[in-house]
Amino acid sequence: MNKITLGDRCFELFIPHSEIDKAIAEVAQAINREYENNCLMLLITLNGAIVFAADLLKQLTVDCRISCIKLSSYSGTECTHTIKDLIGLTEDLTNQRVLIIEDIVDTGNTYAYIVDILKNQNVKDIKIATMIFKPDAYKHSLPVHFVGLPIPDKFIVGRGLDYNGTGRNLIDIYQVCE
Ligand code: HPA
Ligand code: MG
Repeated sequence: MNKITLGDRCFELFIPHSEIDKAIAEVAQAINREYENNCLMLLITLNGAIVFAADLLKQLTVDCRISCIKLSSYSGTECTHTIKDLIGLTEDLTNQRVLIIEDIVDTGNTYAYIVDILKNQNVKDIKIATMIFKPDAYKHSLPVHFVGLPIPDKFIVGRGLDYNGTGRNLIDIYQVCE
């Protein structure tokens, strides 16, 4: 299916699942190399990153634990600029190597906010792995360490990414119709 409708919007096929799977496999290999012989704490950002995290985790060979956190800054296709609270972080992160798992880094506000909170937790290091990165929308200077697919600044759905809560289950990624 090349075109789908979600609520009031039309979306067209943008990235087929084979390409996404290949990109995720490459991210997994890069993480396995970077954290070889290390313990790793993965912070999975709900809700969007669960699909990417599940695909990624099956391909990780490093010693890792997971924790799910939640923080949302998006509604509809417009960034609201209101950042909500971070919930779900109960683990002691002292001296840990932390890897944030994101479905998408867009403006980077969510990422910057999480890093800001983790700064006070005496972590060993903090990096990020994201399935999708929009370099043209990114507003911060923090490095984005592991990127599956860089894309232009277009609104997309699928593979965990939603439009008003729908479309997360799509196996391919769709972009909003022009
Ligand atoms: N799609 C869905 N959610 C998002 C996006 C997007 O393009 N950017 C930031 N959150
Ligand atoms: Mg997200």
